[in-house]
Amino acid sequence: MNSRSLAVVLAAGQGTRMRSRLPKVMHPVGGLPMISHVLNAVERAGIGRTALVVGREAPWAEGARGNASLHVQSEPRGTAHAVLAAKAAFDEGIDSVIVLFGDNPLIEAETIDSVLARVHGGADIAILAFETDAPTGYGRVLLDDNGHVAAIREERDASEAERAVRLCNSGIMAIRAGEPLAALDTIEANNSKAEFYLTDLVEIGHARGFNIVWQRAPHAEVMGVNDRAQLAEAEAEFQRRARAKALQGATLLAPETVFFSHDTVIGEDVTIEPNVVFGPGVVVDDGVTIRAFSHIEGAVISPGAVVGPYARLRPGTSIGPKVRIGNFVEVKNSALATGAKVNHLSYVGDANVGAGANIGAGTITCNYDGKKKFRTDIGEGAFIGSNSALVAPVAIGDRAYVGTGSVITEDVPADALAIARGRQVNKPDRSPAKPDVPHAEEGGDHAEGEDGAGSEADVRGTSP
Ligand code: UD1
Ligand code: MG
Repeated sequence: MNSRSLAVVLAAGQGTRMRSRLPKVMHPVGGLPMISHVLNAVERAGIGRTALVVGREAPWAEGARGNASLHVQSEPRGTAHAVLAAKAAFDEGIDSVIVLFGDNPLIEAETIDSVLARVHGGADIAILAFETDAPTGYGRVLLDDNGHVAAIREERDASEAERAVRLCNSGIMAIRAGEPLAALDTIEANNSKAEFYLTDLVEIGHARGFNIVWQRAPHAEVMGVNDRAQLAEAEAEFQRRARAKALQGATLLAPETVFFSHDTVIGEDVTIEPNVVFGPGVVVDDGVTIRAFSHIEGAVISPGAVVGPYARLRPGTSIGPKVRIGNFVEVKNSALATGAKVNHLSYVGDANVGAGANIGAGTITCNYDGKKKFRTDIGEGAFIGSNSALVAPVAIGDRAYVGTGSVITEDVPADALAIARGRQVNKPDRSPAKPDVPHAEEGGDHAEGEDGAGSEADVRGTSP
């Protein structure tokens, strides 16, 4: 149905109200730039062609455009002027144009489809409107005595009576190809900003007897983001939706404290404890528990795994089935196979951890020498004693056992026991805590010899 429609997505405004170096439409909501939310919704609505209008060619626009053609409106002279900047895309084959704004990130495909359906059903122009008690800043939709749309008045050009109207323009407008679309050329810049307003098409069309219809949308879905307060509102609404979606199959103990990304995938029978943040690229499979205060991005978590509390999973992480990641554990760019355990206070980076391996508290994979990163391989069923440093590149064989406190710089063969730490020396009756042992003098009582074991020569001023 929409395959002969053209979507024109406007993103050439300066976005000065954001006070940002980043183009307004590139500010993220749910971790995805606003413009990508809009382009994705357009695609889901099955629209045949998309034209993206930007202020100038720029890498961000190239990166965001997807299948859309790019059009430059070199001076921001208003929304109608911006639509006309995409005229090269208005070819014979299209039956309708739908205009969307890059700063309406929460628009849904179904809504786009339903506005276009009005034009396909015979309307010349269909606008999407919403009602709000806080209409400040929006164009007001003015109806004539018959309830038809007569005009849209921008706030700064509105009379006091018009400002009292609470029906607002969302900015989304579908226009039938032919006479209604051609009328865009007749819009003049006769308003207080001397801009060409797309909204003026309504008044022009009304005078010509066009069939102009309006449709209602929830304010939350069509809110425009012009400043950072509105960006925060859009984020809040995005999170409300994401939580509602997650709650379809997951238990969230305190949903309002859990933050999702646009692409978070949550399986069935997942439990998410309070204060969890999902960055982009996370898949949580069935039966997983994410315990409180965990921060997770770029990670795939397999069925039955338990992560947290206070865990940090960073990009490139694959958590196998039934793996346990405990408190204050950071994992980056690593794969942990079935049943592996890292329960306390560890850093696992650039590593493969075999099935059933157990990584003791305080283990660090030393993956970085200041210039380059190296990998650590830990075999199946291996046991890494607490407080060990595995200096990569290094491999620990299957079922190998690393003694507590080791600094491992060489590979450990399968089934071997590796101990790499200073040997303990006990000196009978030498404890300074013992009443008759003289106090140690400064400068060396605690020094250790080269072999790390301590030697008599290091101990001055005391007799054995
Ligand atoms: C616009 C509408 C207003 C509506 C509101 C909804 C007009 C004249 N006003 O106001 O009726 O209630 O959106 O959010 O249409 N843009 C360009 N080139 C330009 C000007 C704007 O590409 O020359 C783009 C902007 O990047 C933005 C969109 O058009 O994505 C809307 O522009 P913006 O300045 O945000 O308009 P509003 O003041 O919000
Ligand atoms: Mg706006």
